[in-house]
Amino acid sequence: MNNYKVLIGVTGGIAVYKALDLISKLRKHDIEVKVIMTESAEKFVTPLSFQSLSQNMVTTDMFQEPKAWEIQHISLAKWPDLVLVVPATANIIGKVANGISDDMLSTTIMATKAPVYFAPAMNTNMYENPIVQGNISKLKEYGYGFINPDSGRLACGDVGAGKLAAVDDILEVTLSLLNKNEDLKGKKILITAGPTISPIDPVRFITNRSSGKMGYAIAEEARDRGAEVVLVSGPTNIKPPYGIKFIKVNTNEEMKDAVLDNFVTSDIVIKAAAVADYKIAEYSDKKIKKGEGNLNLEFTRDNDILKILGEKKSESQILVGFAAESHDLIENARRKLANKNLDLIVANDITSNETGFASDDNRVIFITKSNESTVLDKMSKREISKKLLDEVMKISEN
Ligand code: CTP
Repeated sequence: MNNYKVLIGVTGGIAVYKALDLISKLRKHDIEVKVIMTESAEKFVTPLSFQSLSQNMVTTDMFQEPKAWEIQHISLAKWPDLVLVVPATANIIGKVANGISDDMLSTTIMATKAPVYFAPAMNTNMYENPIVQGNISKLKEYGYGFINPDSGRLACGDVGAGKLAAVDDILEVTLSLLNKNEDLKGKKILITAGPTISPIDPVRFITNRSSGKMGYAIAEEARDRGAEVVLVSGPTNIKPPYGIKFIKVNTNEEMKDAVLDNFVTSDIVIKAAAVADYKIAEYSDKKIKKGEGNLNLEFTRDNDILKILGEKKSESQILVGFAAESHDLIENARRKLANKNLDLIVANDITSNETGFASDDNRVIFITKSNESTVLDKMSKREISKKLLDEVMKISEN
């Protein structure tokens, strides 16, 4: 990350203190930060706190000396790569939506050509008020961005939507907006992630150890590079990434249906999911009670989704599979690549305990249809995603 500049507009609300946390995290990424506070924001936290964390002057008053306001709001408007309003009250949203510019923040927003994102925080009833919602829709039509608030218990005691999005989510949006490399713009990418489950009875199922981290990392990387992303995910503990189409599934059959619904329109399909190969021969709709002896369950083969896709795939589509192996890594991966008619397979050895399923890192090998292999060092799943998409782009350009 190099020399990005972010202007933070802070408006008055109890969530103001969270903007301090955001600024400190942005600074850790070497992003230069300047702050404009509205008069009501100053009632919650002093400008000095923002000044100390941003290590820059904080602008509060439009008529602040020594600079004349015309110059300052224009120069501030020209300065940033991105403007974030955190927290954004109903008041600032309403003002900008209706062309009112009567203080430093609203005049700067009006004058800037940089992208402006609002992270609203307010009482649920206010947030749901049709006037506020109408203003938000209007701003979206004009190209302003929103980082949606979370739901939860609000400062006023009400429960509902209106809680400022988590600082880490705002940070993630910020980093991806700043780092935007649009080389996948115009491509539709279908990704699968996580395990599938095979229900046995109303309370039991079998599944596997897939955490979903690899597929989610690919989805985020593809989104950040401008692709239109559909992520079909089995049950995981990961929050769905923003800005993509997310389809949650449980079983192999549900994953197959969701994947097939989106397959024909996809340019690239990456199957990182650990799909169950077997399902129970006879699902019991009553809970299975314990008996005296052993319990024997019979499982039958379920769909090989990737193989189905390999049979259907068109010339221009790129199909990528994963091979998680405990032995004969290369041989098994090559066999899967050929059997399933893939363009590329990502092979990894699951026996290592410092990489693999639940880990943030992995050590993988890419093998292409033309039998070229690339051995990567151990790296984060996000970095693997980057290299994988680079490799996919190389294939698509040939
Ligand atoms: N896959 C799939 N449907 C299945 C099984 C696997 O779509 N029923 C996909 C996975 O998403 C992965 C690739 O096929 O991209 C290889 O998965 P893996 O579990 O390693 O291999 P299998 O084909 O199941 O073979 P085996 O279990 O014998 O290793």
